[in-house]
Amino acid sequence: MPVILGIESSCDETSASVCVDGNILSNIIANQTIHAAYGGVVPELASRVHQQNIIPAVQQAIINAKVSKNDIDAVAFTRGPGLLGSLLVGVSFAKSFALAKNLPLIEVNHMQAHILAHFIGDHKPKFPFLCLTVSGGHTQIVLVKDYFDMEIIGQTLDDAAGEALDKTSKILGLPYPGGPLIDKYARLGNANAYAFPEPNIPGFDFSFSGLKTAILYFIRDNVAADPQFLEKNMPDICASVEQRVVTILLNKLKKVAEKYNITQLALAGGVSANTGLRQGLTNLCESKGWESFIPKFEYCTDNAAMIAIAGYYKYLNNEFVGQDVAPLARMPF
Ligand code: KG4
Ligand code: ZN
Repeated sequence: MPVILGIESSCDETSASVCVDGNILSNIIANQTIHAAYGGVVPELASRVHQQNIIPAVQQAIINAKVSKNDIDAVAFTRGPGLLGSLLVGVSFAKSFALAKNLPLIEVNHMQAHILAHFIGDHKPKFPFLCLTVSGGHTQIVLVKDYFDMEIIGQTLDDAAGEALDKTSKILGLPYPGGPLIDKYARLGNANAYAFPEPNIPGFDFSFSGLKTAILYFIRDNVAADPQFLEKNMPDICASVEQRVVTILLNKLKKVAEKYNITQLALAGGVSANTGLRQGLTNLCESKGWESFIPKFEYCTDNAAMIAIAGYYKYLNNEFVGQDVAPLARMPF
């Protein structure tokens, strides 16, 4: 019955989780609201706030799981990819805790962990499956052959899907992070009100920079003609933008599934919290007779439960790292 403490600090969420024998018993997430005023994550501020939040988050995770510090068998932590200053806080904490308690350390790749969040709970996919991994920093279609055998089939050539939504919301005058707000407005609007372009990228890769520029000019021209344009049309604009992002993502995912003959499709990463994307994947799978896997909301955005579950599978394989491990801002699979 291995007890794994998971630590996540790659961006602007400080999170700690306890996993006992593959079951998540706690998942504490401390969000950083300080960045809202700046329109994006400020790396220096993020690492300072991680420093303040990490110990309370770990203490609470241990209390909520009703275990003792002495029950922990291994410490799993996000090694990368992410902001270096943010990663350093989690990595240093994990190393110190492991050193003090004489425990093995398990490094986890943040993007693999988003995918492995599907192994929390009962509705688990079977290998191989496809995972559309969409966050503020990544947009990838991943062929998942085994827990730690993953191949990127397609990815963004410029902005990530979440980044495109966050930049759009900035153009619309909404605070960071804009993705959830676009989602909220989109539910009240008409998705066919405005037709934004779908980029013509060959193969399985994505591009969102053209869409972002099209939105920028569209808003600029319409606000010049009517200064009240945004206030009057926010739900329709958000619904139309969201629909375009969702169709770009799902059209490619469908192509990959057909080419590779895969019938299990999953979502992962922060943007998988998006209502339109979740509904779109469900509809696609229903129409094709495929099976969809959509994580619970708390396992979509950054969280330590996904780190702990990834750590659990590595623990079973005896995959440990030494105290000389250092964070990696870029970390391929
Ligand atoms: O995975 P994540 O928490 O952090 C990264 O590793 O980037 O993803 C954050 C991204 C942000 O771009 C945020 O706007 C987006 O996920 N996001 C959403 C929603 N919730 C979070 N985008 C659209 N709809 C949502 N409901
Ligand atoms: Zn993430």
